[in-house]
Amino acid sequence: MIIGIIGSGAMGAGIAQVAAQAGHHVLVYDTQDVALLRAQSGLKKIFDRLVEKQKFTRAQADEIINRISFEDNLKKFSNCGLVLEAIIEKLEAKKSVFSTLEEVVNNDCILATNTSSLSVAAISANLKHPERLLGVHFFNPAPLMPLVEIIPSLQTSSAITKQTEELIKSWKKVTVLAKDTPGFIVNRVARPFYSEAIKMYEEGFASMETIDWAMKNIGGFRMGPFELMDLIGHDVNYVVTETVWSQFYYDPRFKPSITQKRLTEAGLYGRKSGRGFYNYAEKAEKPTPNEDAKLGQEIVDRILALLINEAADAVFLNIGSCQDIDLAMTKGVNYPNGLLAWANQIGLEIVLNRLQKLQEFYGDDRYRPCPLLRKLVADNQVFKL
Ligand SMILES: NC(=O)c1ccc[n+]([C@@H]2O[C@H](COP(=O)([O-])OP(=O)(O)OC[C@H]3O[C@@H](n4cnc5c(N)ncnc54)[C@H](O)[C@@H]3O)[C@@H](O)[C@H]2O)c1
Repeated sequence: MIIGIIGSGAMGAGIAQVAAQAGHHVLVYDTQDVALLRAQSGLKKIFDRLVEKQKFTRAQADEIINRISFEDNLKKFSNCGLVLEAIIEKLEAKKSVFSTLEEVVNNDCILATNTSSLSVAAISANLKHPERLLGVHFFNPAPLMPLVEIIPSLQTSSAITKQTEELIKSWKKVTVLAKDTPGFIVNRVARPFYSEAIKMYEEGFASMETIDWAMKNIGGFRMGPFELMDLIGHDVNYVVTETVWSQFYYDPRFKPSITQKRLTEAGLYGRKSGRGFYNYAEKAEKPTPNEDAKLGQEIVDRILALLINEAADAVFLNIGSCQDIDLAMTKGVNYPNGLLAWANQIGLEIVLNRLQKLQEFYGDDRYRPCPLLRKLVADNQVFKL
């Protein structure tokens, strides 16, 4: 099968690499020649490094690279079996790409969007054949992150969903099925990892380096929330938070923070701009965390209770199955445990009590426990994994 990729930025180039490594011929299109050239030279450099590290022989690497061709004409995509769009996150631009593609590709070609935050239903509206379009959401960097969320819209045919799942699995990826709702699974469930950490920092409950230390050393997360936000970039992370919040009709559970907004406004995006929550200048002093075990445990318990609540709500609202939600968080954002399995381990009543105490103290709907969590506790049950 020939795979088409539209948009040769960070995601498009990464997904092209994944598909070519799986043995496909891949066509990559971008409106900017410079983006195509950048992707082409980037892939060469990546494979030079992979050859150096002996992951591939030179011959294998060349074979993979030669399977990818960079095109400036969409007409060449007529024989693709799947075309995946990874252009800028703008609804009108994406709609326009797909209506152009509909005129170019065969009837049995699957159309996929890598959108992180737009509705798949809105992207496929007005297409002649919306039943063949779905969300196929890779994580960054696509060649390294195992998870892909598969998101059928209201109009996607179940046969297309199944066929796409099989195809992406054959690329050695782990797929989960997610409902077409804001943030799908990962970007929805992960919100409190960032927002509750910022809230504790804003209140002076703990410093950011202490929160990062606790989440890594006690919680077992690979990175602390502040380090991770600085790595992702506040421009990206803040926009995702704000988009998810507004798309949920301003539910306080997803409310963004002024602190992060100010960083974004000031252009202090994180590592890429030299300063975010932390200062990345060469001689900048690294702040020292307060390694108090009791405080650390309180920090982890609080963030974890909110994460579990979000995961429970995603089950309650049929965004994904218990298994898929746990898989998504371990494979998409490297959480040390599936949140629902973790909740079962801690004890659902303990998690519920933590949420109720927070809700009582703050009087804020942000902490309202998920009805499913309350029901499971009342029935003396656990999440079924
Ligand atoms: N970067 C991430 O972490 C990440 C993760 C998952 C999903 N996504 C999603 O993937 C998509 C791409 O993100 P990215 O980070 O690769 O962006 P990017 O800015 O690195 O690349 C986008 C590319 O699309 C090209 N482009 C813009 N309009 C086009 C058009 N009409 N036709 C063809 N090419 C066009 C641009 O020239 C650019 O090269 C977005 O929808 C984003 O939300 C991003």
